[in-house]
Amino acid sequence: MIITTTITQVQAQLSLARKKNKTIGFVPTMGALHEGHLSLLRRAKKENKICVLSIFVNPTQFGPTEDFTKYPREKKNDVLLAKKENIDIIFYPSEKLMYPPGYLTTVEIKNLSDVLCGRFRPGHFTGVATVVAKLLNILRPDTMYLGQKDAQQCVILKRLVQDLNFATKVFLCPTIREPDGLAMSSRNKYLSIAERKEASVLYRSLCLARDEIQHGIRNATRIRYLIEQNIRTLSHGKIDYVASVDAENLMPLNEIKGNVLLMVAARWGQTRLIDNIRITLK
Ligand code: PAJ
Repeated sequence: MIITTTITQVQAQLSLARKKNKTIGFVPTMGALHEGHLSLLRRAKKENKICVLSIFVNPTQFGPTEDFTKYPREKKNDVLLAKKENIDIIFYPSEKLMYPPGYLTTVEIKNLSDVLCGRFRPGHFTGVATVVAKLLNILRPDTMYLGQKDAQQCVILKRLVQDLNFATKVFLCPTIREPDGLAMSSRNKYLSIAERKEASVLYRSLCLARDEIQHGIRNATRIRYLIEQNIRTLSHGKIDYVASVDAENLMPLNEIKGNVLLMVAARWGQTRLIDNIRITLK
């Protein structure tokens, strides 16, 4: 496994691979790897000759009051985990390499970036789109693997790749969960024992809503109300939003039909958790 911190070195390695017609799978992360990340790496490794993992806690996607400095940085453990998964290359750039003095450019994905999580995290998705555009330009992978857990990020990054003509395919991978249903996240570490116990209410509420839909309920307001009520009754979580949207373009739905995302974001103290499930109705 090669760990590189420079663009020249990572590009030299990848052009060598390309010359040998080896396909390149790419998994962008901010590190503190868990089973969710590992599931993406395993798929990238299985479907490509070369698997590249990037680890970069991207400052531009954190708001001024968010957890950038506190965000877990676990380089040693991440390297061990990546080695175990037979990852070929870790790209581990510094902040100065990604945003050198004089840096001015951002990539803004209109409309999709200021709804849902974007309403509560101004600038977040511009930071995400910008850093991923840079990583795609640096690495030029055949395929990028993303987790469905961050559903809005998936829609936005698919749009980015399409709109800016990146020659990279985007594959979405299912959300990996703890045994009680809580979606794995580097931020789960911030939860107290009591909060951690309550946090699985997000997934349980989404499943309850899915059951209702399977029983024939199609009224989106009723479905959202059911999720909200369940979270409020069973936990101290403060809801940012509960939404039912079209899975392709994030437009709000009045009626549950087609490819639907049920999405939720809630806070326990300073810790903000998100979750979603996708439902397909004919
Ligand atoms: P990060 O939160 O580290 O997540 C990296 C990738 O892992 C994302 O595609 C995310 O959706 C996926 N992931 C996280 N938890 C998951 C889970 N429980 N199951 C499946 N996949 C999961 O998302 C980011 O980093 C950043 O915004 C990034 C795209 C790297 C840009 O900085």
